[in-house]
Amino acid sequence: MQETTGKYKFTYDWFKGNMPFWEKHLLHLKNEKINVLEIGAFEGRSAVWILEELFKNPESKLISVDPFEENFLDEGLNGKNYELTFRENVKKTGKEKQSEIMKSLPFEALTKLNYESKIKFDFIYIDGSHIAMNALADAVLAWNLLKDGGIMTFDDYEWDRYQTWRRNETYPKLVSERF
Ligand SMILES: C[S@@+](CC[C@H](N)C(=O)[O-])C[C@H]1O[C@@H](n2cnc3c(N)ncnc32)[C@H](O)[C@@H]1O
Repeated sequence: MQETTGKYKFTYDWFKGNMPFWEKHLLHLKNEKINVLEIGAFEGRSAVWILEELFKNPESKLISVDPFEENFLDEGLNGKNYELTFRENVKKTGKEKQSEIMKSLPFEALTKLNYESKIKFDFIYIDGSHIAMNALADAVLAWNLLKDGGIMTFDDYEWDRYQTWRRNETYPKLVSERF
């Protein structure tokens, strides 16, 4: 399967359901100089939206964290290089200079960002691992990187596919009785 969204190429578009919410809660920031952090980049669907729609200010900056290793994906890509697809899609926005990739596991990237203490974010999107304990760890490590009044959001917060797919694993929302 290959979805083509205008000039961009996406094997899966997991992002479009977010658009009405992001338009409602984020677009008031579009002309401001903002910093955005996303955990989970895949082929760049959310990154392209951020660069195209949210970054009308040329000084805004996006950092995307992803190990870019296929074994972290739920859906196979048959060896297709999704880091390359991410880079190509970002390049097509013409805002490549506003995008930085941290190719690593989130805990490594988040530890580095906390240690360096050079940047805080207006918006943080947690969309890496959808297993509750991993999403919680990402959120805790990212919390200190959020500016006062900043927004943190989670993908698939109440998505329950893992309950049938992978018994005993949960979705991003922590449900206390499971632990
Ligand atoms: C749902 S995709 C991200 C989608 C992207 N935000 C978009 O809108 O297209 C999840 C990404 O997180 C990464 N990922 C999954 N599990 C991870 C884990 N345990 N640690 C780090 N990254 C992970 C994968 O490499 C994948 O690219």
